[in-house]
Amino acid sequence: MSQFWKPGTEKPRLLDDEEGGVLFFGASPSTSSGYGYSSMERQKQRLPVYKYRTPILYLVETHATTIIVGETGSGKTTQIPQYLKEAGWADGGRVIACTQPRRLAVQAVSSRVAEEMGVKLGEEVGYTIRFEDLTKNGVTMIKFLTDGVLLREMMDDPLLTKYSVIMVDEAHERSISTDILLGLLKKIQRRRPELRLIISSATIEAKSMSSFFQTSKRRREMEGKNLGPRMDPVILSVEGRGFNVQIHYVEEPVSNYIQSAVSTVLLVHDQEPMGDILVFLTGQDDIDAAVQLLTEEVQNRGKSSSGLTILPLYSGLPRAEQELVFAPTPRGKRKVVISTNIAETSLTLEGIVYVVDSGFSKQRFYNPISDIENLVVAPISKASARQRAGRAGRVRPGKCYRLYTEEYFVNEMSAEGIPEIQRSNLVSCVIQLKALGIDNILGFDWPASPSPEAMVRALEVLYSLGVLDDDAKLTSPAGFQVAEIPLDPMIAKMILSSSQLGCSEEIITIAAILSIQSIWVSSRGAQKELDEVKLRFAASEGDHVTFLNVYKGFLQSGKSSQWCYKNFVNYHAMKKVLEIREQLRRTAQRIGIVLKSCEGDMLVVRKAITAGFFANACHLEAYSHNGKYKTIRGSQEVYIHPSSVLFRVNPKWVIYHSLVSTDKQYMRNVISIDPSWLTEAAPHFYQHQRPPSMLH
Ligand code: CDP
Ligand code: MG
Repeated sequence: MSQFWKPGTEKPRLLDDEEGGVLFFGASPSTSSGYGYSSMERQKQRLPVYKYRTPILYLVETHATTIIVGETGSGKTTQIPQYLKEAGWADGGRVIACTQPRRLAVQAVSSRVAEEMGVKLGEEVGYTIRFEDLTKNGVTMIKFLTDGVLLREMMDDPLLTKYSVIMVDEAHERSISTDILLGLLKKIQRRRPELRLIISSATIEAKSMSSFFQTSKRRREMEGKNLGPRMDPVILSVEGRGFNVQIHYVEEPVSNYIQSAVSTVLLVHDQEPMGDILVFLTGQDDIDAAVQLLTEEVQNRGKSSSGLTILPLYSGLPRAEQELVFAPTPRGKRKVVISTNIAETSLTLEGIVYVVDSGFSKQRFYNPISDIENLVVAPISKASARQRAGRAGRVRPGKCYRLYTEEYFVNEMSAEGIPEIQRSNLVSCVIQLKALGIDNILGFDWPASPSPEAMVRALEVLYSLGVLDDDAKLTSPAGFQVAEIPLDPMIAKMILSSSQLGCSEEIITIAAILSIQSIWVSSRGAQKELDEVKLRFAASEGDHVTFLNVYKGFLQSGKSSQWCYKNFVNYHAMKKVLEIREQLRRTAQRIGIVLKSCEGDMLVVRKAITAGFFANACHLEAYSHNGKYKTIRGSQEVYIHPSSVLFRVNPKWVIYHSLVSTDKQYMRNVISIDPSWLTEAAPHFYQHQRPPSMLH
């Protein structure tokens, strides 16, 4: 293990020595930091933003757009909304909004702010994420929400009139919803000059944001004549107080980053003074694997590794487990948090001194040619690597162990990530803009333009779904109905079709289950048992019908947690499914969908799925013995994921819900279909193909 880092050959270096060094690091250590407890108020005053309270309020008062850049942990998210409230921006029933790209961050940050203000979450401070609204009309003054939810709110209130200030947080992440939001907010500002925007970001990409919000000369001249806020954006940099972080690189590229991460954690635990460790991996799968491996290693070593508390952190983690991550580490103990990139900038964990960076994260990639979007484990950018390293320098000088070589960092890592809008399927984005009355989507004022090919693909799919007409306008009523359902248009269309097919109750259950991460408990070493248990529910039609069986079993058990435990079903997930289902039923009723059960007729259920997901149809290659499928549209090679009940069953024709890519492209959540349903569901979409029947 110790040869891994080659002691003595490692080159400690300071972050600001790196080429292109960033301004946040290396600020002089402030004596006030540390673990010591102090009153909430004193803690708040110690945060770097506190010194800027007056300038921030002044700038927001006098400028329509204020861009605030500051190191992660400097207090942007938790403090600025409170300053605004104290300054009266929430008076008269107005609301201060703060958006986040991630749901988990919305929840964590709002409960922190409620705690700081000494109020109950859901009252003065509340949050809204999809399918969960913890706010009170007329009471909530500070509202945290995902950028996606704010976009949805625009459908009912296009000018977002109830908000006085909107803080678009984590703008450097450039999530697809953030980018759409920025484009729309810029438009809204022209109609509502009194609205204030704060764009906050952890990196100095601020300049491009600033030029995006720059107003024209003519407008500035007009503005000189009235006394409103200045329309030109202003940038404020909140000085960081990070400590130096020593960077260590591996000597040789590592072949298995999970194994290497675990070895590095143990090495740090053996050789370094106390201080918590934060490990960046990519997603629930590899995080669970690392937690398990590390737990085993610690058990094998007996006493020597005691005092290590191992905690995972990813979205979808139950509330109680989230809280453990934020709880202070008891004296004499060391906490290891194994996280996705959510801990990169969205959440700050106190007490981290060591960071282990795998160099990867899960990213969305879309190829308009093959029309395939999937989540891929891909290398991070230098900007991300610096952010990750910075997490080690919050409480005292720290160390960052990069599981890649220095040569790789310098020569191969890209400087910045690509905005999500340029690597996503745009179907959802297009329908949202259309629903907001933005017809010329290519001419929309984007912070970063999406590719025309992806745009054309999206228009084509939406046309085939019957959501857009020949003039690329929303069809009535289908287009408007689909836009009203707060889910992917393909799922929304599936729900719509289920109304005609008489199986909406079943399809809504399926939609609810597909919108959460997983209904199974993560296997944690019991993969075989989990697989066996799954067989109890397995349906020959495929995963969607299997979900219906699980749901039925859950209802029959009287929604029992014990039943869930016995069947490896995640009880919390099922409760969530019930909640989402109820909300979807309400939406469905509102838009005129007939709620009806098909009483076990799975043929209509599969037809409804096809009506929404025809674009994801695949057929088994003739004579294929290894389960190789081809997508009908792009002729891409794909396989059924081992977690599917159809794995090794390999029906001739299937439709998948999503793809994941590891060594191969795997289809997740798969259902068998009859190819004739495809041309029935989407004649236009398949018209340039050979008729499916010829592919047998
Ligand atoms: O947004 P930014 O990264 O600038 O900082 P923040 O999220 O406002 O965090 C400010 C401080 O609040 C940090 O010292 C965090 O550790 C602390 N905090 C916390 O203790 N618990 C939370 N759930 C959120 C923040
Ligand atoms: Mg923040």
